[in-house]
Amino acid sequence: MNRTRTVLLMSLLAVFSMLLTACGGETPTATAVPSTGSGGTAADTPAAAAGGGKLEMFSWWTTGGEEAGLKAMYALYKQDHANVEIVNQAVAGAAGADAKAVLKNRMIGGDPPDAFQVHMGHELLDGYVAAGQVEPLDDLYKSEGFDKVFPKGVLDIVSGDGHYWSVPVNIHRANVLWYNKKVFADNNLTAPVTFDDFFKVADALKAKGITALALGDKVTFASAHLFETVLVGTLGVDGYKGLWTGATKWDDAKVTEALNTFKKMLSYVNADHAALTWDGANDILIAGKAGMTIMGDWTDADYKAKKFTDYGWTNSPGTKGIYDALSDTFALPKGAKDRDNALAWLKLAGSRQGQDAFNPLKGSIPARTDAGQGDYDAYLKSAIEDWKKDTIVPSVVHGAAAKDGWAQAYTDAINSFVTNQDVAATQKALGQACVDAGVCK
Ligand code: GAL
Repeated sequence: MNRTRTVLLMSLLAVFSMLLTACGGETPTATAVPSTGSGGTAADTPAAAAGGGKLEMFSWWTTGGEEAGLKAMYALYKQDHANVEIVNQAVAGAAGADAKAVLKNRMIGGDPPDAFQVHMGHELLDGYVAAGQVEPLDDLYKSEGFDKVFPKGVLDIVSGDGHYWSVPVNIHRANVLWYNKKVFADNNLTAPVTFDDFFKVADALKAKGITALALGDKVTFASAHLFETVLVGTLGVDGYKGLWTGATKWDDAKVTEALNTFKKMLSYVNADHAALTWDGANDILIAGKAGMTIMGDWTDADYKAKKFTDYGWTNSPGTKGIYDALSDTFALPKGAKDRDNALAWLKLAGSRQGQDAFNPLKGSIPARTDAGQGDYDAYLKSAIEDWKKDTIVPSVVHGAAAKDGWAQAYTDAINSFVTNQDVAATQKALGQACVDAGVCK
């Protein structure tokens, strides 16, 4: 971990929202990708318009809303590239739990896909860029005007060493509490704002024999995700961000408090949480057997795919006015077999049309400042507004705040905690992970 880069990324994320309105709303005209030059950057080869071949697109989007968004983009792609065979290389496992390992092996083995999903921030820059595994996309940014339509804060963290490295298709929010409206209405409950509110609501539901908080941590990211939101809600913007720069010590009393709060929350979750995935946890909320769940806004897309509309949302406890953010982007591996087809994919992903087709189904908002006119539902409309005014913090579980190795060590520590519930040992392990990452002494 390069500490200077960490600090830089943190400050850049912090200015996301301020920069949103500062960036022009110009819509770039679709220009053909310039023709071949040797040794140039990624857009220096002819567009694939006339050609056939394949497009092997690698992601971990396999659940209802994830797949729906991806398929909408594939359909758009096919309109202009009817002869290209799209190979949907999606490896199941939320948050890339299994996909990332598969991808890394393929990269190392010299068998990359044509394009792949990667989170903006440290996952991209300290991972694939640092390893020299992706091509710079400067020419594509120029030809498509991407440098004018993404917020400066976004541009800054898809770039490094003077080059752009991936194309952001969306912005997701991690810190959302979703609730079943009928369950709340039947029990005279209102959406909790603070942790105290949360536990009052949880007690009321528990007393009625209803699971208060649905959790599905069969894939280990989910409990780490829940704890991330507790950290944000307990330490606040600066305290939380400082955890990833070394400015906040992991032995801070607030981290102890967050672990104790998390421990208490775990006493309200469904007994079968370790057997369910995050979308399985949504099913018990949909069935009215659980009142709440805390999960990223891909949940909105899951409800949509399952045709469930009777849900409400609010920020997870203690995080009002804070947007715990992440972004899915696409990158171009060095040695992609269908490079031109991949470039055409990246072009679509960054376009207004592509973003407005994808995001309403994916439960995310567009990364482009001039998009957002598509079929966005009430939650997404509210998210578009919040993104403009909230304070942004970077998600650790979803690649923005820390490099993969550190994020994984954090996730492992929290998953052990779910079983052993040992606050002191977990706090120590979290501190050690920061030391191992080279950020804490
Ligand atoms: C995140 C990803 C989202 C969503 C979620 C659950 O890491 O950025 O797009 O897919 O995982 O799988």
